[in-house]
Amino acid sequence: MSTETLAKKNIKIKVDEQILLKVLKLNDVSDSYVEWLNDFEVTKFTEQKYFTHTLENTKTFVSQKDESERDLLFGIFFNGTHIGNIKLGPINLEHMSSEVSYFIGEKKFWGRGIASKCVEAIVQFAVTELGLKKVNAGYYENNIGSAKVLQKCGFVVEGNRISQIIFENKRINHVLVGYVPN
Ligand SMILES: CC(C)(COP(=O)(O)OP(=O)(O)OC[C@H]1O[C@@H](n2cnc3c(N)ncnc32)[C@H](O)[C@@H]1OP(=O)(O)O)[C@@H](O)C(=O)NCCC(=O)NCCS
Repeated sequence: MSTETLAKKNIKIKVDEQILLKVLKLNDVSDSYVEWLNDFEVTKFTEQKYFTHTLENTKTFVSQKDESERDLLFGIFFNGTHIGNIKLGPINLEHMSSEVSYFIGEKKFWGRGIASKCVEAIVQFAVTELGLKKVNAGYYENNIGSAKVLQKCGFVVEGNRISQIIFENKRINHVLVGYVPN
């Protein structure tokens, strides 16, 4: 694998007949993408809710990730329409491990199994194409949807960062999960 694969950056992962993951490029940054990032319902379980997102700073983010040799930022495309993102990164080439994170921005696509399919596909890609030996993720303990997605994809709870997060004026845990291929 490795840096060669990461340097290519035109990677596409076919998830099924309708869903394609494609490394995001500047021209994928649209008004709707920026709107998702400013939608509290979409971001309330993520740190993105603390930022104001604009076309400009979203483009900067996408081009930084595109240039990074340690990140793969994919758009989730459903029948050709961008509906969310999934990121593998930062990728730690010393330890052959990575973080994964994701969101479905178009809310009408929630609850249709799309995040589960995309996480499963990206983990397979990480293991078989990049040779990674560990994939990590984390979620606010009350993010039931994300907990289910990760559990379905074979992630196991490795620990809790106790009282790490303030959510609606209460302190809650951040759950740490990991996937180790067989
Ligand atoms: C969390 C999120 C990624 C789930 O995506 P999704 O495509 O709707 O998830 P799936 O359809 O694959 O659902 C997987 C399971 O979780 C359940 N689920 C999904 N959202 C749920 C919710 N809000 N509450 C309870 N269960 C939920 C589904 O019913 C399904 O359960 P099942 O396997 O028993 O049928 C999506 O709601 C989202 O993007 N939310 C905002 C951003 C976010 O929270 N990102 C993750 C940060 S860690």
